[in-house]
Amino acid sequence: MIRVLVNGAKGRMGSMSCASIEADPELNLVGQADRDDNLEQRIRDTGAQVVVDFTNASVGAEMFKKIVEAGAYPVSGTSGFNQEQVAALKKFCAEKNRGGLIAPNFSIGGVLMMKFAQEAAKYMPDVEIIEAHHEKKLDAPSGTAVRTAEMIAEARGTNKTSVPAESKEMIAGVRGGKAKDIPIHSIRLPGFLATQRVIFGSLGQTLTIEHNSINRESFMMGVCLAAKKIVGTTELFYGLEELIFRD
Ligand SMILES: NC(=O)c1ccc[n+]([C@@H]2O[C@H](COP(=O)([O-])OP(=O)(O)OC[C@H]3O[C@@H](n4cnc5c(N)ncnc54)[C@H](O)[C@@H]3O)[C@@H](O)[C@H]2O)c1
Repeated sequence: MIRVLVNGAKGRMGSMSCASIEADPELNLVGQADRDDNLEQRIRDTGAQVVVDFTNASVGAEMFKKIVEAGAYPVSGTSGFNQEQVAALKKFCAEKNRGGLIAPNFSIGGVLMMKFAQEAAKYMPDVEIIEAHHEKKLDAPSGTAVRTAEMIAEARGTNKTSVPAESKEMIAGVRGGKAKDIPIHSIRLPGFLATQRVIFGSLGQTLTIEHNSINRESFMMGVCLAAKKIVGTTELFYGLEELIFRD
């Protein structure tokens, strides 16, 4: 059994992760931590091999490093990692010879939505992303939206978008924010959990790829799978797909 500790255990994702790990016959929930706990000490005391982190965008990178320093494998679902942080953590993992995962989206459908969007972008480079989350989500845009933009940018390469770049905003922000030159529009409303729509436009046609997480259970299969797959790895995986589709 793999020994797992959950950080951010009192939160919405953390508490559900604890329950899912407890229910998984291959995983053993050996500890929980949250704000005000000494994470490194708790990892050492419990002998946790894997730490699932669902905390806060402002501390995600710091938590990741602490987990590695304490000798465990980080599985981070926390939002808000930027490209510089991911690059620095890749280097950090290589130096420490220790694997870890940063997964902007743990739902299998969400991962497939990103992969399909990446494929579509090769043929339809003009694209915008609309993401909608519950009103309590602290950060915008979502980690999933940023990761999708990165994957699309990688796939479309130098293909130029035909959308006029300089359309005048009559209300500031009305055209959304941009990641990798791709507009992202973030909605925060009760009633949503996590939805993303990737809309491609071309001559006389549009293509929409949409994923909806209707409850947090959608993320739990990915969390448990990642906790099992990360043990024994020696590099940073960015995106659940990098870890689970590699063999
Ligand atoms: N990757 C995914 O699939 C996925 C899905 C949903 C949410 N998220 C992300 O997961 C994170 C948590 O979401 P949530 O809805 O559970 O939030 P939440 O606010 O319900 O829970 C966050 C928890 O982290 C704790 N925390 C904050 N700072 C901490 C610190 N420095 N040390 C230890 N604990 C700390 C809080 O006390 C709280 O209990 C967010 O970044 C969110 O965007 C990711």
